Parts: sequence; C-alpha cells; structure tokens
Amino acid sequence: MNLKKIAGFEAAKEVNDGDIVGLGTGSTTHYFTQKLGDRIKKEEIEIMGIPTSYQSFLQAMECNIPVTTLDEHDVDIAVDGADEIDKDLNLIKGKGGAHTLEKVVDYSAKIFIVIADETKLVENLGNFPVPLEVISKAVKPVFSALKDMGGEPSIRMAKYKNGPVISDNGNFIVDAKFGVVNNPIALEKDLNAIPGVVENGIFSQMTDKAIIGCENGINKINF
Ligand code: 5RP
Repeated sequence: MNLKKIAGFEAAKEVNDGDIVGLGTGSTTHYFTQKLGDRIKKEEIEIMGIPTSYQSFLQAMECNIPVTTLDEHDVDIAVDGADEIDKDLNLIKGKGGAHTLEKVVDYSAKIFIVIADETKLVENLGNFPVPLEVISKAVKPVFSALKDMGGEPSIRMAKYKNGPVISDNGNFIVDAKFGVVNNPIALEKDLNAIPGVVENGIFSQMTDKAIIGCENGINKINF
C-alpha cells in the first residue's frame, strides 16, 4: 500500500471550488497535486495554486494547475508534507530544502493541513535534524551559535553536484541535530534569532489538521 498516496489523495478532497491552494513540496504532496490536477480536469473546479518550490511549480505546470502569487491572492488552504509530526502537530520540515517558502505559504493559509505516512508520527520531535536555510557568508558564526545551543550542525552536501546544496533562494542548507526537542515553540523562535539564518524547519503551533496514511486506513487528527 502506498501510504503517501492515500494521504495525498484524501487531502485533495478538502479543496473547494474557488480556493487558492498552497502547494507543498515533496513526494507526499506530489500525490496531492496530481489529484488536484485530476479534479480540475474532471470536475471543472476553478482553483489556483501557490507553489512552495521549483518542484511544486513545475508539477503545477505539468498538471495544468494555474498558479498565482502571495502578492495577488491570500491562501485559503495549504497542504504540505513533513519529516516528523509530534502529538501536538508541531513539525520538522525541510528534507527537501524548501522549508522557507513552505513556511511563508503554509503559515499564511487560513487552513494548513499536513499530510504524511504513519512513519512520520513521533512522540517528540528531534530524531530528524532541524534544517536551516543560511546565507553562505554567515555559516561560521551560525555554526558557533548552533553549537552554543547544543546543536551539531553540518552543511548539506549535494549528490549530483560538487559542493553544498543550494536552495531555491540561493542559500546553504545546514542540518542541525539537537536530539529530543522539548520545546519546539522556543526552538523555532531561537533559531530564527541567529543572524544569517533565513528560516528554520520547525513549524510549531500552525497545523490545523493532519491526514495520515496508515496501514489500516486514514487517520485524521484535528488540532
Ligand atoms: C520539503 C519538505 C517535505 O514536505 C518533507 O521533507 C516531506 O517530504 P516527503 O513527502 O517526500 O516525505 O519539507 O522541504
């Protein structure tokens, strides 16, 4: 069973005719966006998407989903994936390096739904390192600040290019291991207070609903 597909397809039912939709990034939202494209074609609903990355922009084009921007429209509903989801629906995101624009779009949405397979559910965040988008010139002081906070930072290296991953915004991605995150709200705020950090991958207190693909069906958790 493809649990990401189950979650993505289910989330596409939450979109209403006329909605402006935040299009998340990753392999789970891939199914959401695909289903949304199908609905536009079959049901002739009129929606517009706001992509959160080049990946979701290109998929929107492929699926004939008209796109718009935050300058022109407010977001009615955003649907996005996650790397970890805790019991209060706080998230770690950014394995795809797209968390900056994802956060801007997801946080501005009237309704934010996270979708995932059940392996992403955790008691506490922290098994997964926290991704940070960092301007390249600031890496050294940012590393010092992260170490002072108990983190173990490393620059994310590219697989199909020499050197570091460069984000859609032209910055480095730093992954910082913190171990168990007891206070995601404080950590999200503290990480963004480090000069040179553009945005971090903790999404605290913003998720309205989780749609989780499970071996025994769909689990919907409302916050
Ligand atoms: C990208 C993200 C993704 O949404 C997150 O990594 C989940 O990805 P996937 O659905 O492929 O497991 O935050 O920056």
